[in-house]
Amino acid sequence: MSEIEHHDYDVIVIGAGGAGLRAAIEAKGRGLRVALVCKSLLGKAHTVMAEGGVAAAMGNVYAEDNWKVHFRDTMRGGKMLNHWRMAQLHAQESPDRVQELEAWGALFDRTKDGKILQRDFGGHRYARLAHVGDRTGLELIRTLQQRAVSMDIDVFMECKVVRLTTDDDGAVNGAVAYWRPTGEFVTFGAKSVVLATGGVGKSWKFTSNSWESTGDGHAIAMWAGASLIDMECVQFHPTGMVWPLSVRGILVTEGVRGDGGVLRNSDGKRFMFEYVADMFRAETAESEDEADRWYDDHTAGRRPPELLPRDEVARSINSEVKAGRGSPHGGVFLDIASRRTADDIRKRLPSMYHQFMELAGVDITREAMEVGPTCHYIMGGVQVDPDTAATAVPGLYAAGEVAGGMHGSNRLGGNSLSDLIVFGRRAGIAAADRAESMAREPKLNQAQVTEYIDEALAPFTRDSGENPYDLQHELQELMQANVGIIRNEAEVVEALEKLDELKQRAANVAVGGGRAYNPGWNLATDLPSMLTVSTCTAQGARDRRESRGGQTREDFPKADPELGKVNFVQRQPSGRGFSSEITITPEPLPVMPDELMAIFEEESK
Ligand code: FUM
Repeated sequence: MSEIEHHDYDVIVIGAGGAGLRAAIEAKGRGLRVALVCKSLLGKAHTVMAEGGVAAAMGNVYAEDNWKVHFRDTMRGGKMLNHWRMAQLHAQESPDRVQELEAWGALFDRTKDGKILQRDFGGHRYARLAHVGDRTGLELIRTLQQRAVSMDIDVFMECKVVRLTTDDDGAVNGAVAYWRPTGEFVTFGAKSVVLATGGVGKSWKFTSNSWESTGDGHAIAMWAGASLIDMECVQFHPTGMVWPLSVRGILVTEGVRGDGGVLRNSDGKRFMFEYVADMFRAETAESEDEADRWYDDHTAGRRPPELLPRDEVARSINSEVKAGRGSPHGGVFLDIASRRTADDIRKRLPSMYHQFMELAGVDITREAMEVGPTCHYIMGGVQVDPDTAATAVPGLYAAGEVAGGMHGSNRLGGNSLSDLIVFGRRAGIAAADRAESMAREPKLNQAQVTEYIDEALAPFTRDSGENPYDLQHELQELMQANVGIIRNEAEVVEALEKLDELKQRAANVAVGGGRAYNPGWNLATDLPSMLTVSTCTAQGARDRRESRGGQTREDFPKADPELGKVNFVQRQPSGRGFSSEITITPEPLPVMPDELMAIFEEESK
C-alpha cells in the first residue's frame, strides 16, 4: 500500500452543518489547529432544511416570553423525556447565539421597530422563531461558513470518515477517511474529535433528508464505545411534498402554518380540531372562529390546532388519510392561499412558492398544496454530557442532531437550529479545553488503520456479490413500512429479523470500477452505518412499549408513566463494529432539580 496522506490537528470536527461549523469556529478562536471534515460539499447540510426559523426566547414580539417558558415548551414538546439540563442550557443560551449570528452578518427579517422578527411555530407558547423568510437554515450556514473561512479553518470536503481510531486506553485519537473524488485514504490524528454529522433520515423511503444523512456519526461513535439513547424517537415532519412522486418527502416548512396556513381534508374540513389532545386542550382553539381570532389578533391566547407539536399533527394527517379523507395523492391539503395575500406569501415564503411552482406546477398563492408526513429528524442520538457535549469515549464530543437528549421524544420546530449553535459552541469549547491540556501528539495505531481501510475496500475484493443499491432500496422500504410513523410489535420484530438478514448480505456487497467518484462504493461504505442505526431504532421501537412523541405504537396507544422515567440506552459491550451485538437497556432519566420542576407547577396554578 502506498503511503497514506496524514494530518495532525488539535481538534477535528466531522460534519460541516451548523453544529460542526459553530464548534470549529470556537476551537479555532482559541488559536488551535482545527480541521473540518465533511463528506459533502461545504455548505450542503441538512441544516438548510430547518427553513422556518431558529427558536430563541428573545421577547421581540411577545415581551412576556423568557427562557423559562421556552424550557417548559421544549420539555412538554419532548413529552418530558428530554435531558432537563440540555433543555435548560438551550433555552437560556439561544438568544445570545442568535444575536451573535446577527453580529456575524446574518440578515434576519425585522419588526417594524427594527428588532429581529419572530414567527409562530408548533408547540411554542409565543412567536419565537427568528427567521429569514423561509430560508433561515441557509442563512445560518452562510453566516457560519463565511466566518469559518475567514478564520482559515482547514476544510476537507468530499472526505468521508469511515472510522474513529482509539488509543490503548479507549480514548479517541483520530479518524480514517477517504477522499470521494479520488478514493484515496487519509488519516487524521487529533487530540479531540467533535462529531456533528447530523441525522439518519436516508434509511426511510420518504424523507426530507438528502443523501448525506446516513447516520455515520451515530454508528462510528458506537463502534468506538459511545452509547446511544432513545433511537426509537424519530420525527416525521407533518408536511412534506407528496406529489409528484419524484419529489415526495421534500420539506414544506412549518412556517406555512406558522404564518396562517391551515390543513384541510378531502371534504374541505379543518380536521385538526378533531384531534386536539387533552394535554393541549387548554392551549388550543377548539373552533375555527376562535382560531381565526387568534391569527387576526395575534395574541398569545388559544392557538390554532395546526400549531400543535409535530408528532400530534403528523399522526392526525396519517389518520385522515387512513380514514379515506386524504388528497388525491395520499396526503392532505395545506391552504395558505385563502389566508394570506399573494404578495405576503411570495414575500414571507419565497422558497415554498418557487418549490411548488417549479416541482409541482402548483401556484400556492392560488391553490392548496398536497402534503403528508416525511421522515425529518432523529431525536435519539449519542449520549452526551449536557455542559460539555462529551460522550462516553474520552476525547469524543457530539453536537447537533447526532447527539441525543436535548429534544426528548419529539423536537419542536425551530429548536434544531438553536440546538446547533448552543451545543456546537459548547462542544468546541470542551474539545479545545481537552486539546490544550494534552502535551503529546496522538499516535495512531497502524494495525487499526489498516484494518479500517481493508474493511472499507472489501467490496472491491469480491468478484460477485450484492448490489449496494438493492440493499439500500430494501432497507428504505422496510423502515418506511415497519418502523414508520405508526408501529406495532409484530412489524418491528419482523423489521429486526430482516435487518439481520440485510446485515449479513451487506457483508457480501460487491462493487466494480475504480475508487474515484464511485457512488456504488460510496454507498457500500454508508450501508454499515445505515443498518446499525436502523437496528438501534427498531430495537428501541420494540422495547418502548408505549406511545410518546416520535414513538407511536398502535398496540400501546398511550404513554406509560413508568417508561416516561427511562431512556433506552444502546451499547456494544462485547466487541465494536458493524457486526458486533447491540444491547439495549432502560436507564433512569436524570432527576430534574426542584427549581425547574417549579416552572411546571407555577403554570398549573
Ligand atoms: O419546517 C421547518 O421549517 C423546519 C424546521 C425545523 O425542523 O426546525
